Amino acid sequence: MLIRVPEGWEIPEREATPEAAFWNRRQVLKAAGLAAGASLFGDSKPLYPAPQNNEFSVPSAAVTPDWAAGGYNNYYEFDPYGKETVKDLVDKFVISPWKIQVSGLVKEPQTYDLDDLLKKIPLQERVYRFRCVERWAMVVPWTGFPLASLIKLLEPKPSAKFIRFVTVSRPKEMPGMAKAPYPWPYFEGLRMDEAMHPLTMMVTGSYGKPLPKQNGAPVRVIVPWKYGYKSPKSIAKIEFTSGEPPTFWNRLQEREYGFYSNVEPKKPHPRWSQAYEQLIPTMERRPTLQYNGYEKFVAGLYNGKEF
Ligand code: MTE
Repeated sequence: MLIRVPEGWEIPEREATPEAAFWNRRQVLKAAGLAAGASLFGDSKPLYPAPQNNEFSVPSAAVTPDWAAGGYNNYYEFDPYGKETVKDLVDKFVISPWKIQVSGLVKEPQTYDLDDLLKKIPLQERVYRFRCVERWAMVVPWTGFPLASLIKLLEPKPSAKFIRFVTVSRPKEMPGMAKAPYPWPYFEGLRMDEAMHPLTMMVTGSYGKPLPKQNGAPVRVIVPWKYGYKSPKSIAKIEFTSGEPPTFWNRLQEREYGFYSNVEPKKPHPRWSQAYEQLIPTMERRPTLQYNGYEKFVAGLYNGKEF
């Protein structure tokens, strides 16, 4: 897999400025009696920042700075060889309006508008550890909702045992798609009990604001006990299936990227150890934790054989 592992020295000092400016703006709005993002003209409730849910907190390092989580990204549709900075390539990517097509073993296959779904499902913020298969790790405050809330709304049939996600395919807006002979668009999947697990989130924001395009706007999946490639970005299709769906990296390198891909320190990648991880942006090393620290919540899903 071609995943960019940044060096600590690569982060330019100037990146910190826009974030500081953002917080200043928030303070100004707060002083004026307005929450960040509130409309001056309408009275609709702002989506961000959403209330925090600490139910699934686990010991972790400090939250990764916003500029680092938004500056070091893997998004192959834009940067298939991990050589460029994704955030500099996303300008043309249109994220509104956004539709999600739901198909397969479900009560009513149909296309949903994301804004309509967000009127039905309230958002919450959760701070999660996030671990890439190539060892870098982050701690990110994501805003979103449990995938289980959406699945309940969609009403899959009892024969649905897996869920398949497909990322949007927009070669004109995603310059990397023409550059690499990958089986586009990006696709991933989960077993239904993994998808229904309360830790699994559909994410629309981070750091108290809408998700940056490079992190998978306007909506992505986050499965914190699995390697990062199991968390697909910019979801355009959801399909309920009876059999295990194929996944993008498994299709490309079957021996290295299994369907389950849970974070397991004792299971080395065929080409490197998974015993330690490196925190972005300092690249400080620390031991990898079983299921990325979420063992008490998810161990019951597995009997130890899944890969
Ligand atoms: N989703 C899409 N559509 N395309 C991608 O290239 N990369 C995956 C995952 N989701 C990827 C994707 C990988 S390898 C990782 S590690 C995470 O997104 C990175 O998420 P981040 O950039 O928000 O840190």
